[in-house]
Amino acid sequence: MIRQLRLSSGLVMLAYVTMHLLNHAVGLVSLEAMEDVLWYIFRIWSNRPAQVLLYGSFLIHYGLALWALWQRRSLRLRSSELSQIILGFAIPILLARHVVGTRIADNFLHTDTGYYAYLLWVYFVDSPGHGYWQMLVLVVAWAHAMIGLHFWLRVRPWYAHIAPAALVVAVLVPVLSLLGMIEAGLHVAALAKDPNWTREAFARMTLPSPETKRTLEAITDGLSWFFGGTVAAVLLARIARRAWRRRHGVVRIDYADGRWIEVTPGTSVLEASRIAGIPHASVCGGRGRCSTCRVRVRGERNSIDPPSADELRVLRRIGARPNIRLACMLRPRGRIEVTPLLPPLALAADGRRRVDFMQGSEREIAILFADIRGFTALAEGRLPYDVVFVLNRYFAAMGRAIESAGGRVDKFIGDGVMALFGIESSPRTACREALAAARLMSERLDELNRSLQAELDRPLRIGIGVHCGPVIVGEMGYGSAATITAIGDAVNTASRLEALTKEYECELVVSEETVARAGIDLSDHPRHEIEIRGKREMLAVTTIKRAADLPAPGAVLIRHSEPAETATPVAAAPP
Ligand code: FES
Repeated sequence: MIRQLRLSSGLVMLAYVTMHLLNHAVGLVSLEAMEDVLWYIFRIWSNRPAQVLLYGSFLIHYGLALWALWQRRSLRLRSSELSQIILGFAIPILLARHVVGTRIADNFLHTDTGYYAYLLWVYFVDSPGHGYWQMLVLVVAWAHAMIGLHFWLRVRPWYAHIAPAALVVAVLVPVLSLLGMIEAGLHVAALAKDPNWTREAFARMTLPSPETKRTLEAITDGLSWFFGGTVAAVLLARIARRAWRRRHGVVRIDYADGRWIEVTPGTSVLEASRIAGIPHASVCGGRGRCSTCRVRVRGERNSIDPPSADELRVLRRIGARPNIRLACMLRPRGRIEVTPLLPPLALAADGRRRVDFMQGSEREIAILFADIRGFTALAEGRLPYDVVFVLNRYFAAMGRAIESAGGRVDKFIGDGVMALFGIESSPRTACREALAAARLMSERLDELNRSLQAELDRPLRIGIGVHCGPVIVGEMGYGSAATITAIGDAVNTASRLEALTKEYECELVVSEETVARAGIDLSDHPRHEIEIRGKREMLAVTTIKRAADLPAPGAVLIRHSEPAETATPVAAAPP
């Protein structure tokens, strides 16, 4: 409920601030247009229910922010999270003067100054210092809202698609708003040079008397001290709590790679990781939404409390077993050992992955191996940083090709790459994606060769092997080097097919089984029967001179229509 309240109250205030800023932007048209638009916005927000909603949202949001500050056991945060907190607490202090000078003065001290003409006169003629201050508030409030919005949306699958457009809007709104304010402000400053304009404009207003001004100043100071004081009080209370807890014992958290940390009870595992400087994935910033902080927990039963309803919902979504918990929600009471299940740089998409396959299951997937041909010769006589530069460009191009085809880069080995397809989809999709990736890799390599023309004596060439079959997929490795990978005959075969590209002098060797499963007609390419070490039966493969010549994904010739296959694992590994 707290999360919902924080979000809803934030969205109400965001709606108000967005309208207000867009109203400022109308200043680029004219001062009169600004006042006209203000009339409509005022109608929306000046009625009693809207005011209760707006001011209530502010109080709820501020109260919950103080509560969150108290709840956090550590303030070692990523810079974006820390900025959001600092900016958020700065808003009421920075905004106090503006709210007191407008809403409180009009509602309680019977002034009536209209809005834009008077305020712009104050900001651009009478006291420009307040004008700069107001522009700063605008940027601070908007930045706080945008960071919060980003944290909220970044775990949604569609967010990556709209992120570039959203960024443009997020930058344009405050820029246009500031420009509108400046344009209208300069216009008012020019008008104010004429004493008649000022006299006539002020004659229509009820300006604050000197005594009212002093009262408004006193209220502004009081509010600033109040908001600053509440934050200071919570920070002091945190220090006192920490000292008290230190006197009453600490909790030890061990990490699978041998590191450990002692923290005060009530500290979450994610906070402990941050205090200890142990990189830990946390896409949503510890709000219990993304599941990227998931850890496997070992320890005494009474060392941890059962998950809350919110945590349980996320754990169910990812198919977690009882020993998997969210590090940001888990606050151990006794000694425990934890193993983070995702790498520190995990993305929101990784958080959507279920954990059951990470714990080991047999699945039918497609495996792709690729290697640079003649890399040793290419590296000879080059400076190390030249080699690293070329390799990183190559890895970036190949990695992007694999991911945009739907695959997962398993590892880079020397100048080679291994990728997995279909970990969470059907074998048919896996094979189609693997072939699409091979095609894309070939195309991207051509582009890379063109851009590196000046650096390379001869263009880079690659060999790609693709095969599909049952493998064991799971999280393997040790400590921070543990990652999801696959082992099995099919992996070895795919690697062997990649090696065969040298023998057949082609770019791609793909097993017929993969081609058949993908439903693509490659009958006009050479077919061979090869021997695979340790196997009695021969393996039929197709060789393709240039993988870029594979049919385009939208134009593949489907040889037969298959019923949609399900994405269930072949067999679950024993618990
Ligand atoms: S950091 Fe996102 S769920 Fe824990």
